[in-house]
Amino acid sequence: MDGVTIRDYRAGDWDAMYALDVQCFEPPFRFSRRAMRGFAEAAGSITLLAMCAGQLAGFCVVQMEDQLGYVVTLDVAADWRRRGLARLLMEEVEGRVRAEHGTAMALHVFEGNIGAVRFYEAIGYRRIAVANGFYGRDVDALVYERTLGA
Ligand SMILES: CC(C)(COP(=O)(O)OP(=O)(O)OC[C@H]1O[C@@H](n2cnc3c(N)ncnc32)[C@H](O)[C@@H]1OP(=O)(O)O)[C@@H](O)C(=O)NCCC(=O)NCCS
Repeated sequence: MDGVTIRDYRAGDWDAMYALDVQCFEPPFRFSRRAMRGFAEAAGSITLLAMCAGQLAGFCVVQMEDQLGYVVTLDVAADWRRRGLARLLMEEVEGRVRAEHGTAMALHVFEGNIGAVRFYEAIGYRRIAVANGFYGRDVDALVYERTLGA
């Protein structure tokens, strides 16, 4: 994508990530500042940012859990949507998970988040379960996974 650079998380990025998360998610689906920093800086975290002209266009946070890459969050700024940015971020992060000997990806998504559900299905994720009450009382998540090829 013209003008877009994907780079690793750097100390302090969590502030801009939090600001974008506020635009992307309503409570209870968004993280606090503290949680965002904690996820981005956790051991085993793969946090990639998509930058354009110094601005944060999108990011993803994936946590390695043994051989599984768990997608903690994926956020794309409204102005950047439907231009292939999330697909690019996921391709990059899946490559990184593979490089760390990961064999599969997994994630939870709110069942009412139709855009995200369509997105994950479009890039090859498979629905494997429903997690009742994952986001709170009566707020269920769909569980998706994708096996990573060699
Ligand atoms: C879901 C999200 C990450 C998608 O980002 P994006 O950069 O717009 O996605 P892409 O442009 O890479 O989309 C790739 C394909 O996914 C599908 N897709 C993406 N968004 C879609 C939507 N809102 N409705 C239907 N299909 C969609 C399409 O097949 C799309 O290809 P196309 O545009 O050629 O039709 C973005 O809408 C977002 O940040 N939403 C708010 C936060 C969120 O819900 N995050 C995911 C939950 S963890």
